[in-house]
Amino acid sequence: MFTITDAQLGRFWQNRGDDGIKREKQLLIDYLCSNADGSIYYIDRDMKLSHVGMKINESDWSVFLEHAGDAMTALSVP
Ligand code: HEM
Repeated sequence: MFTITDAQLGRFWQNRGDDGIKREKQLLIDYLCSNADGSIYYIDRDMKLSHVGMKINESDWSVFLEHAGDAMTALSVP
């Protein structure tokens, strides 16, 4: 959720309700745990269906990857 306050990516979360953002945060945790073999079965929509139509471009994706890399470094994820 660190991307919400990013100057470029923040547009994706403009005018969204608190409940929707909390729901998305929980689903992201579930998704990551499920994919990291954390004994969780992900039951929500698949990633392509969830994101299709948002107009995420290559530049958005690069910014996202920088944030993801920074988070992993901060948490000492190998
Ligand atoms: C630039 C990259 C990305 C942007 C801008 C983005 C944006 C968003 C937004 C705005 C939502 C809310 C959709 C809704 O409520 O209808 C969402 C949902 C979600 N995103 Fe992303 N996302 C990105 C990449 C990713 C990646 C890489 C993952 C997984 C590692 C991910 C996991 C999720 C999950 C689990 C949800 C909830 C899905 C659902 O509501 O069914 N996102 N994303």
